[in-house]
Amino acid sequence: MPPPKPLNVLLIGAGAREHALAAAIARSPRLNTLFATGTTNPGIAALASPVPVPIDIKQIYRLQQFCDANTIDLIVIGPEDPLAQGYADALAAPNRLIFGPSASAARLEADKAWSKKLMRAAAIPTAEGRAFTDPDAADEYFTSRTEAQVIKAAGLAKGKGVILPDTLEQGLDAIDRIMRRREFADAGKTLIIEERINGREVSVLAITDGASILVLPPCQDHKRLRDNDEGPNTGGMGAFCPADTLDDDTMSRVETDVLIPTLDALRREEIIYKGVIYAGLILTPAGPKVLEFNCRFGDPECQPLMARLESDVIDLLCAPAQGTLDEIDVRWSDKHAVCVVLASEGYPAKPTTGIPIDGVEDADAMDGVTVLHGATKMVGGQLVTDGGRVLSVTALGGTLADARERAYTAADKIKFQGKIYRTDIASHTAAPTT
Ligand code: GLY
Repeated sequence: MPPPKPLNVLLIGAGAREHALAAAIARSPRLNTLFATGTTNPGIAALASPVPVPIDIKQIYRLQQFCDANTIDLIVIGPEDPLAQGYADALAAPNRLIFGPSASAARLEADKAWSKKLMRAAAIPTAEGRAFTDPDAADEYFTSRTEAQVIKAAGLAKGKGVILPDTLEQGLDAIDRIMRRREFADAGKTLIIEERINGREVSVLAITDGASILVLPPCQDHKRLRDNDEGPNTGGMGAFCPADTLDDDTMSRVETDVLIPTLDALRREEIIYKGVIYAGLILTPAGPKVLEFNCRFGDPECQPLMARLESDVIDLLCAPAQGTLDEIDVRWSDKHAVCVVLASEGYPAKPTTGIPIDGVEDADAMDGVTVLHGATKMVGGQLVTDGGRVLSVTALGGTLADARERAYTAADKIKFQGKIYRTDIASHTAAPTT
């Protein structure tokens, strides 16, 4: 049989997750040309050709024309926003594969009130919670609770819309910020107040075509800003893979009790989910409970995952649309991968930007280390910070300790004023909880 034709691939997204995907795609023998919308990211720009049209759902026809003119065979959509906006639906065409769910499937992440309802109807174990559209009613309900609660914006808030109040004042302030002051814009039109469950917080990611499920190796991220899981929630300050926080029994329980019933529940709504499904869970003595679903790879979980992927990522990315998940060869390195996120001063509330960064080349040259760009840009030949999660320093090692040591040695070579990072990523003193 002749080898499959090399593919033109379009990658949508501009963060460290997409840089990790771009690096894996660029290694594929099946790649012809990689185009990317996120080439203001210098890491992605080094691997992909730019897309000279606006990336705006209101002008999606421009991107459609670009895809037609450049015979794009595969589109990989990294972040949740374009998925929720319907890029996967709008860019679909004969002879073109899309990696990423439709807007109706991405609602699982983009509309947490809907998602909660779906879980309840399908008896999927999840934290008890209530949705509110009236801030006064939310205040009243929160004030009436005696046990600890979590307050969440129901829409997309870039990983920052989850607040863990320790006092009544903090809770009422969170409701005010989300619903009245609209700190997260329309994401705060609806708000969820749910019970705070104690236990270890873990993520399970799987790739699915809506029927078959390929559960990915366990990853553990660290959501709080500071060591020992203190400080505000962030998009994620680091991750490691494989994570020993999830054993085989728990992984299969998540598959049977959470992932399969969720895909079945979606199918009953006539929604076929294709892409990555990410379950954020708390491990309780009664079994895993869902905190939330995401409709894409985690950032930073994708960085250590891609570092460990040995087989061809293009096979994996084509599989959900082609229905070939059961047929493809997926191999992971025996090595451990650790990713340490370097963030800007002020992150997550108000990160500083425009700060010169040095030492990336030295760090990247280390054996087993890849420095992935999250929020950087080039200004007059100088690399500068351009947002909150600046760089994801990702290292492979023969043991977890080795990978950790390499990641931290590399992280220390990178200098910028106000650099913040956790020193306990992948250390067993870290016990992520809500
Ligand atoms: N690391 C958490 C997320 O991607 O939502």
